[in-house]
Amino acid sequence: MTTDAPIGIFDSGIGGLTVFRTIRRLLPQESILYVGDTARVPYGNKTAETVTGYSLQIAQWLVNHGAKIVVVACNTSSAVALPALQQSLKVPVIGMIGPGARAAVRSSHTQRIGVIGTARTIASAAYDNAIQGLAAKAVVASQACPLLVSLVEEGWLSGPIAESVVRRYLEPLQKSNVDTVILGCTHYPLLAPVIQDCLGSSVTLIDSGEAAAEVVAETLVSQNLLASPAHKPQWQCGVTDMPAPFAEIAHRFLDSPLPQIRHVHLE
Ligand code: DGL
Repeated sequence: MTTDAPIGIFDSGIGGLTVFRTIRRLLPQESILYVGDTARVPYGNKTAETVTGYSLQIAQWLVNHGAKIVVVACNTSSAVALPALQQSLKVPVIGMIGPGARAAVRSSHTQRIGVIGTARTIASAAYDNAIQGLAAKAVVASQACPLLVSLVEEGWLSGPIAESVVRRYLEPLQKSNVDTVILGCTHYPLLAPVIQDCLGSSVTLIDSGEAAAEVVAETLVSQNLLASPAHKPQWQCGVTDMPAPFAEIAHRFLDSPLPQIRHVHLE
């Protein structure tokens, strides 16, 4: 494998473009191959077994198409499938949970940390376990926020509806007096302004995707996998269902245009 091979990123759908955006900004010289499993989204309300099966299939597809590292942008997949992925793939696999938990423990002064995510991510307690593995005395308050994914995909990123849904979900975290909250889902960084407004400026928000992107950069350096300086990066994007609806809302998740989106068959 040459080091100019792409970074593979996968998500259940479109939300992982927030991670794509961060990695492209941090590592502009790297090629990226992104797959969104739009045929089977959402993952957040499915069983761990189902999500693990889907995740193994897509990650293997990325490796078969030359990925030198696999980034599990989907927090739900990261929460339930990371050990299986790391065991079965022959390339480094980076998930969202460890990096997000580490960043939260580092930033929290009180070690009272909130986590929001999909129903499956919260039920897995993956963030709770990772946080308590790093800081045994940490108190973790977690809250599933299933409607937030639909809000973001609908484009309702501000205004009274977004505010009242966010306020309702965050109430228990406020009662728990957390000083740091992990945005444990691909979509939530787009709601960060509303979430921050609701929680107040004394609460720090942690974007797991940003924390994970730094781990990706460190891993490429430590494993000698950085692209060569002369490399001309290519950004490719595939989806398992129709490209058109994905293309229509992709701009919401990105700061610059995406290359053509193609349909991929997972063999
Ligand atoms: N990408 C998922 C996550 O980060 C959210 C959407 C879904 O439920 O599939 O957990």
